[in-house]
Amino acid sequence: MSGDVILHIEHLTKFFGNREILHDISFDTYAGEVFGFLGPNGAGKTTTIKIAAGLLSLDEGEISISGHSMRTQFEKAMADVGGIVENPEFYKYLSGLENLRLYAAMREGVTEERIREVVHLVGLDHRIGDKVGKYSLGMRQRLGVAQAILHRPRLLILDEPTNGLDPAGIKELRDILKSLAHNEGIGVLVSSHLMSEMELMCDRVGVIVRGKLQSVQPIDELIAATSPDRAEFLLRVDDPQRAKTLLSDLPDGALKLNEEGVLDLVLPIVGCDVALADINRRLITGGIALYTVSKKENRKLEDVFIELTGEGGGQIA
Ligand SMILES: Nc1ncnc2c1ncn2[C@@H]1O[C@H](COP(=O)(O)OP(=O)(O)OP(=O)(O)O)[C@@H](O)[C@H]1O
Ligand SMILES: [Mg+2]
Repeated sequence: MSGDVILHIEHLTKFFGNREILHDISFDTYAGEVFGFLGPNGAGKTTTIKIAAGLLSLDEGEISISGHSMRTQFEKAMADVGGIVENPEFYKYLSGLENLRLYAAMREGVTEERIREVVHLVGLDHRIGDKVGKYSLGMRQRLGVAQAILHRPRLLILDEPTNGLDPAGIKELRDILKSLAHNEGIGVLVSSHLMSEMELMCDRVGVIVRGKLQSVQPIDELIAATSPDRAEFLLRVDDPQRAKTLLSDLPDGALKLNEEGVLDLVLPIVGCDVALADINRRLITGGIALYTVSKKENRKLEDVFIELTGEGGGQIA
């Protein structure tokens, strides 16, 4: 993994009224990584992100950014954060460049050279002179990222940044965020409710459900940990009932006859080729006509996510 701890969250708890929205959340994000904050609607992603971006207070716990406590060194902590939490607002009748200059004027030490640099980092060089009113949603989102990193924050926080973007726009934004992390050393924290998106964008992922952090791990470990250790096959035969009787020595639950009259066979993934060949041979020698054998696709990541997070992942029960 990458460099220093940029965002440190320890025992974060948040109430709205007497409802506990976040319960004892602790995790770190590092310089040079894209950290994904993954959870279903209402899990507490935006609330956590707003607190980390200094837009909401915390009730219990500690947060520090680049080693500066949000409780005792708020301004220093905030100096190292850039973010898009709600849709970035721009003046539509001004160009992208004019918008950035206006914003830069409110920030200390942002030079014209830095403006050009961020424009290049988000790939808007050719369109930065156009009026923002003519930008696509994806371009406005990239201008938002440019604005958020103008003051060279070490942490960039984005709440569901790909919402509403088309696949091409999602890929562009994803590539920019990965490049900012991996090439520029920025720590990027991005939330999403889509596991598939996290898989393509993030180095590590924290899963939050009903205000509680379930796990924090590298994305490939999360995928491996939740990937199936069994393979599933569908067998179409002329006489499924007799086939089932022929294979009645298989372990309980390994062979089922589904509603379409197709045999559903589950085998341990290790050695499944040999076991399947043996089953096929027994069927054929038993006089069964074997029409097709097909492998059922592995569970999609979305299913794994639903399994991990359960249903209705909102508030703490
Ligand atoms: N200002 C508020 N006052 C009271 N309750 C709130 C407030 N903001 C959020 N909540 C509640 O806190 C919980 C977490 O909301 P949050 O917006 O953080 O979830 P989320 O993970 O971002 O969900 P989504 O995927 O829908 O954006 C929800 O139950 C929500 O209704
Ligand atoms: Mg949200």
